[in-house]
Amino acid sequence: MEKTFVMLKPDAIQRSLAGEIISRLEKRGLKLVALKMLLIDRGLAEQHYGEHKGKPFFDDLVNFITSGPVIAMIWEGKQAVQVVRKMMGSTDPQEAMPGTIRGDYGLFTGNNIIHGSDSPESARREISLFFSEDEIIVYHKESDKWLYG
Ligand code: RTP
Ligand code: MG
Repeated sequence: MEKTFVMLKPDAIQRSLAGEIISRLEKRGLKLVALKMLLIDRGLAEQHYGEHKGKPFFDDLVNFITSGPVIAMIWEGKQAVQVVRKMMGSTDPQEAMPGTIRGDYGLFTGNNIIHGSDSPESARREISLFFSEDEIIVYHKESDKWLYG
């Protein structure tokens, strides 16, 4: 089953949205296989957002993501990468549709609540940046048979 890396950004934690967002992902049917709270250091932030190095918003992005605790997670499911990206909504919360996480809870691009991998390749890279193999839990969920037939 496909895995995706999801991170609740510092604004989600400070605004007490973590439970709400985790609940949405759970209710959709995705399966949580790893979770930890951490403070990201600048090195990890620069690696994670390496594709944006040199862009005008890069320093603000690194400052923001290192400004407080985040919750890093791995969620599993059929087309999990695409499913989470759709649930997140557009990068700019002003553009994000109501019903999406950013569209329901955000107002500003810099503080957009949630990160989700943008491709299965990015997911593999990001998962290995944040988690070791033994932190990823393999388990059976009875509800899968009702989700996938
Ligand atoms: P993320 O990586 O955080 O899940 O967000 P994303 O894929 O929707 O957007 P991406 O293009 O990867 O940008 C990463 C983060 O950089 C900030 N950003 N600011 N001011 C700007 O034009 C701008 N563009 C991007 C956002 O915080 C975005 O989440
Ligand atoms: Mg991105």
